[in-house]
Formats: sequence, C-alpha cells, structure tokens
Amino acid sequence: MTRALGSLLLVAAAGVFAGGAAPAGQARAAAPLGQVVPAPASVRAGGAPYHLTRDTRIRVDDSRAAVRIGEYLAGILRPSTGYRLPLTTHGQAGIQLRLTKGAYGAEGYRLDSGSNGVTITAREPAGLFHGVQTLRQLLPATVEKDTVQPGPWLVAAGTIQDSPRYAYRGAMLDVARHFFTVAQVKRYIDELALYKINELHLHLSDDQGWRIAVDSWPRLATYGGSTQVGGGKGGYYTKADYQEIVRYAASRYLEVVPEVDMPGHTNAALASYAELNCNGVAPPLYTGTNVGFSSLCVPKEVTYRFLDDVVRELAALTPGRYLHIGGDEAHSTSHDDYVKFMDRVQPIVAKYGKTVIGWHQLTSATPAKGALAQYWGLDSTSAAEKAQVAKAAQNGTGLILSPADRIYLDMKYTKDTPLGLSWAGYVEVRRAYDWNPGAYLPGAPASAVRGVEAPLWSETLSTSAHIDYMAFPRLPGAAELGWSPAATHDWDTYKVRLAAQAPRWDALGIGYYRSPQVPWPSSTR
Ligand code: ACM
Repeated sequence: MTRALGSLLLVAAAGVFAGGAAPAGQARAAAPLGQVVPAPASVRAGGAPYHLTRDTRIRVDDSRAAVRIGEYLAGILRPSTGYRLPLTTHGQAGIQLRLTKGAYGAEGYRLDSGSNGVTITAREPAGLFHGVQTLRQLLPATVEKDTVQPGPWLVAAGTIQDSPRYAYRGAMLDVARHFFTVAQVKRYIDELALYKINELHLHLSDDQGWRIAVDSWPRLATYGGSTQVGGGKGGYYTKADYQEIVRYAASRYLEVVPEVDMPGHTNAALASYAELNCNGVAPPLYTGTNVGFSSLCVPKEVTYRFLDDVVRELAALTPGRYLHIGGDEAHSTSHDDYVKFMDRVQPIVAKYGKTVIGWHQLTSATPAKGALAQYWGLDSTSAAEKAQVAKAAQNGTGLILSPADRIYLDMKYTKDTPLGLSWAGYVEVRRAYDWNPGAYLPGAPASAVRGVEAPLWSETLSTSAHIDYMAFPRLPGAAELGWSPAATHDWDTYKVRLAAQAPRWDALGIGYYRSPQVPWPSSTR
C-alpha cells in the first residue's frame, strides 16, 4: 500500500472517533488491507474503513456451512469485543458471509470492505472460511484475546480477491517420537487454519511408538504405543480420539492425511508382534533417536495380512483422500525387497479407496498411478536422487515439496536454538521462505507440483510451547509459499507482513523465535 493511502485511512479512522478519543494504546487506524499472511492474490485498497461496533450483526446465507462459519467467526470476535454479534439470515450491512455461484474456485473468496460493512463471498464453504481468516488478520491483533479489549475494531476498505496457488498446503506433526494429545493437536490445527493450511499429515507410527488403535492388532497401540523418545509413557489415539481430530480438522477445512511408515521405521510394530519379524523374535521397545534399523519382513505373507488390516481400519476412519505409507530411510530393507514391498502395499491402499502418498524414496520403486511423492531432500542431495524424483514427476507422479533444509520446522534456526535438530543445517526465517516451489526440483515439470508441506518431527519436542517455538515464524512462510502467487514473492515486503503477525501470536499465547532477520514491532513483548 502506498504512503498516501495509509494516511488517508488514518484520517478516515480518526473521523470515526471525532466525538471521543480512542482508548490509549490502541491503534486508531485500520491495518493496511494487504497486511495479510499468506499474501492475497489481489488487493485494491481505498475508501473509508469498516467499523465493527456493538450493533454489528453477522449476516449469513441460510445454509448449514455458512451458519457454522458465522458461528466460528463470532466465537473469535465475541470474547475480545464484548459485543453480542448475533447471527442473522436477514438484511444487509455488517459482516456478510455469502455462498454464491461464481469464479471463486474451490478455496477462493472475495472480500469487500467499506464503511457499510465487510462482505466475504465464495463458491465453497472452504473459500468462505479462508476469507474469514483474512478478515481476522485485518482486525487488530487484540481481537484474538479471550477477554474484553477496548478496540476500536476497524477493517481497512477495499477489495481482496484471493485463491491459492496450490491445492495441497500441508503441515505434518510427528506424534510418534513424542505423543501429543488430542487437545494439543487441536491447538496446532487452529494455528494452521489461521494461515489457510488445508492438509494435516499425522505421522502415526515410527520406531518409538504406534499411536493409532487397530482393533485387529490391539498390541500395536497398547504395547507399541506405551513409550516414546526418552522413555516417557507415550500414548495413542483411540478410534474415537482420531475421529475427533478428523472432525475438528474438517471444521477448520483441513483434511487429515494419516501416515503409517513402512517398511522401515517399524520397531514399535515389530516389538508388538513377534510374527512380523523375519526371525520370529520381537525386539524390545525403542526410545532412542537412531533411524534405519528396523524393517517389516518382506517375504512373509503375514506382513501383508497385517498391512491389509491396518490400512482397512485406518481408511475406514479417514474421510480424506490420502493414506501415507512412508517409505523413507528403509536402510534395513534391500532394494529388491523394497520394490517388491511397494508393489504389494500400494494396491492395498487402492483397494480401500485411498491415494498413496510416500516419501520420495517411493520413486526408487514404481509409484502407483496417481500416487504423490513427498520430496524431503536438501540442496546437497545427489543429482541422481533428484533426477529420479524428477523422472517420476515427468511420468505423472505428483510432488509435495518438503525440502528439509527449507521447511523442516524441527531444524534449529541457528546454532543457539535450544530445541530441534541440525542434520539438514540451520534454517533461519529467510531461508525457510526464500525459494520457489514451482522451480525447485531440476527437471520436474511445474505442473507436477501439487503443493508444499512443512513437517515437524518431534525427537526433541514434547509440548505445545515447543511446537509453537519451532513453527513460528517459519510456518506462515510455508503457508505463503503454498497459497500466494509467485508474483507476490518478495522477502523485503514479506518480512514486514510477517512482523505484523507478532502481536497476534502474543494475543494467542504463541511463543515464537524472534529472528533478527524480521523487523518485529518494538511494542511486542
Ligand atoms: C524423513 O525425514 N525421514 C522423511
């Protein structure tokens, strides 16, 4: 936004308070219309801002989805404004949420703001929901608090037209190395939703823990889930727990992508059932952090009966399209066995109606038709390995980009970061943001890229505060890479928009890394 426009808004905002001063310490001007993360596709600012008052109503279409999104918005606005903000299906002005036919796309929306009101229009509920996230960010950060704040509640005027660059915008949480409760997962879902992330990948099993109840193999959860890295008590999701996560994610327009990692990263399963081991002997539970030492027994038929049961039960709990079968770091499986294994397992996933996602080592076997490969290499990954993934992409395998030295959220920011790992290097905020998913992997067609995902591995993380500190401020950058048009990509303007998010994180109780690369407002903290 131009300086002239900024001062216009200031004048307009001051006019609102001509009869009485705004409370001390509160911004009297609306935040600039484009001050949103991820950057909207198009922003046209201008006009007098909207002033949300105690008389504001939230007008929704008479549809269940619009009413639910209206209630969600009211749930955010009521505690901090102290206003009633009733929902109504009648009248005009105020905040309007409208579902209509139109060229908005599956997740796009239009937001029109002016002195009469703010209207968000979309074709699909997901678009309306994303528009609500934009509206949230246009209101003062104190709107996120759960006690009454003074306001004023101004929204800059103009029009935003917005839709995502990529359909797949993911975040992964490793609930295997350390277990996270349903409440902790919900908290992360809410943080993801604020940045329009729409896929929640749950890494449900690994050497250190099996975290999802499987009725036909009950010891997976009750024994395989009974510990975690460092030897704590671990835990697992009952089917009802998992369905509650799926339901909550869906209410925030996120799809859950469950991962059962195989054939490696399987010590918790191998420890739970002796017959899954080639030598028939169950190893002890494992609470360390090494990788690559475990493998399902590829020649044994019981392996595939086991996986059929697991996939069947997990698919039945999962309304989403995908089932992630891992496939990374199978260092204790021969290449021949790995290829045979993937040839057996991928049809099981298809049989239960799901699309395979695998870590990019899947491309060393034969990815099933329609499968997606999740690339987690580094700049330093060999040209041959990159070429193998690119070749699969040329042959129709879709790509999800999660380069570890860019958006692995568990990498330390610097050598002084108290949490996290550094095997992929240190990943400061600029490095996490400053790359182009569309031109990242040499030889991979841009059309193969389905999106980006920011994984968060939990070897060193065991609390929500740990998650927050590693995810913020890098997660919003990953979200922006997934959502915003390449033309908006610019570190110098991004870092200013990112900095403006900090008071919102403070209001939400999200502790974050105060990177020296970002011009944080001096008033925070
Ligand atoms: C991975 O980081 N092993 C996918």
